Amino acid sequence: MIRGRITAPSDKSISHRALILAAVADGESEIKNCSDSRDVKSTVRMLKSLGTSIAKTGKDRFSIKGKGIQGFRNLQYENNLYLNAGNSGTSARLIMGLLAGAGIKANIIGDKSLSKRPMDRVKKPLQEMGAKIAGEKTLPMTCVSGIKKGIDFTPDIDSAQVKSALLTAGIFIEEKVCIHEKNLTRNHTENILRQMGADICVNGKHVEMKGGRELNPVKINIPGDFSGAVYLAVLAAVAKNAVITIDRVGLNPTRTSFLDAAKKMGVKYRVFNIADTYEPTGSIEVKSSCLNCIDINGAMVSSMIDEIPALAILAACAGGTSHFKGASELRKKESDRIKSLVKGFKKLGFDVREYRDGFSIKGKDAVEIAKKASAFRKIDDYGDHRIAMSFNILELAVTGRISRRYRSVGISYPEFYSDIMSVYLQGKIRKGILITGFMGSGKSTVGKNVAKKLKMKFFDLDREIEKQEKISIQEIFIEKGEKYFRELENKILSKLIENEPCVISTGGGTLLNGENLNRAVSNSDIFILKTDYETIRMRLMRENKRPLIKSSNLAEKEAKVRKYYEERQAAYDKIAGIKIYSSTS
Ligand code: S3P
Repeated sequence: MIRGRITAPSDKSISHRALILAAVADGESEIKNCSDSRDVKSTVRMLKSLGTSIAKTGKDRFSIKGKGIQGFRNLQYENNLYLNAGNSGTSARLIMGLLAGAGIKANIIGDKSLSKRPMDRVKKPLQEMGAKIAGEKTLPMTCVSGIKKGIDFTPDIDSAQVKSALLTAGIFIEEKVCIHEKNLTRNHTENILRQMGADICVNGKHVEMKGGRELNPVKINIPGDFSGAVYLAVLAAVAKNAVITIDRVGLNPTRTSFLDAAKKMGVKYRVFNIADTYEPTGSIEVKSSCLNCIDINGAMVSSMIDEIPALAILAACAGGTSHFKGASELRKKESDRIKSLVKGFKKLGFDVREYRDGFSIKGKDAVEIAKKASAFRKIDDYGDHRIAMSFNILELAVTGRISRRYRSVGISYPEFYSDIMSVYLQGKIRKGILITGFMGSGKSTVGKNVAKKLKMKFFDLDREIEKQEKISIQEIFIEKGEKYFRELENKILSKLIENEPCVISTGGGTLLNGENLNRAVSNSDIFILKTDYETIRMRLMRENKRPLIKSSNLAEKEAKVRKYYEERQAAYDKIAGIKIYSSTS
């Protein structure tokens, strides 16, 4: 049974735009509920490199001192300035628009995946506006000099990023920027520009903006990310006996076509609590559903481009064969999503076909899919967050577990694992939750997030010990020895565990003590974070605060890490027979 309620993660797409446009506005803007994703961090980093003052004023709040049009125009970089967009296409393309608009000489670079993605789609129209841009079809690209005139442009691909890059450039000139889209793409840039007092007029698929005047700063609250919420919706739809409610989801109609497709497939959902602010938001409740196959074609693709991997999971659980056509843009995303999906589904034994512009998949029922459960951990995400989350959801829905954690999810949804874990647990909790795992596996971070989501108290056992002893764990080991530490650990754990049900993250060795283990088993559900050796080694070798592996000799330290890892994994595997949330990253 899954009974969960969760707030959607902050919208990455809107966060990028709010930050970039606030940087250009004339005065101080405030952004609330800004996305903490790695992609949005790339935008923050690039804007800071351009001298924008961005201060974090709360966990997800930023105050941005906009430079104004003139402030950006005055930027002169004699030395080669490199702006790194990381994995983020939106950062690269929108900031290319900013550089060309203001005439800032700078280079944009990105990671391996981004460096393969097409950039000429923004380069060409910006050149038509008079900018000089050096570079081929992909990154790196250099803005040599800025735009001189407006543009009347009909893009041959549906891309909100291209539209937004041209509008961002257009802020700096008085001549008009007119864009005529074939299919309407997300309109968040237009919405924020309007809020900032820009002279912008939108008529269906036609946008017209006249720039050359300063934008007003704004206070902006970023809604939840529809594209992140869909993973929870799909989990509810394909799992047995599930009801999940996702709150504060952005419901901008240019983003929600997935819901129309889901309805056609038989997904049982309702949308309620709608608040009609500059970007509409609302709650979505989704229940387990009996699903039919669907045909998706070109015109529908652009408004659900990011949701197609999640939709493919619905198709994988539907009766009949679904066809996705006219979707070749999927090949230009963080990975070639057609290939990534087809390869993943093949590993799971699906009858799936790849086409130039899409794929088809014959659905199976959950019992059939579960027969191939061991294949889930062999699925490659190709470094693509949406591929990772899609297969994770399918595995959780049909097997009740997740066998692999992918680093890529942090690109758009850093709290993905704690959110799904908390949704999954909300219907089940009778007792406390105990989270353990090897040093550096992320026990405290996961514990804190899960407790927050479940509205339970959280205790980090090590911190409780330090609080009581008033010295650090390291100092306890040095001054009083490991035996003293273990006794203290037992005592404090037994006190915490017998209180009201709470979430506790323990040390990596806590449950290797039989007494603690018995106590934990009868009072808590135990979750073990399993992390592969390479990741652990990487994390532990760059710090030196853990007493058991501390050493100034790197080879000796590494040998200790390996020894403890091997010993403890074997012990965890035994405990895992009791309760497990297993993951490798
Ligand atoms: C985005 C637009 C879409 C989408 C991407 C985010 C945006 O890309 O796939 O994840 O924020 O503008 P395209 O505009 O290139 O289709």
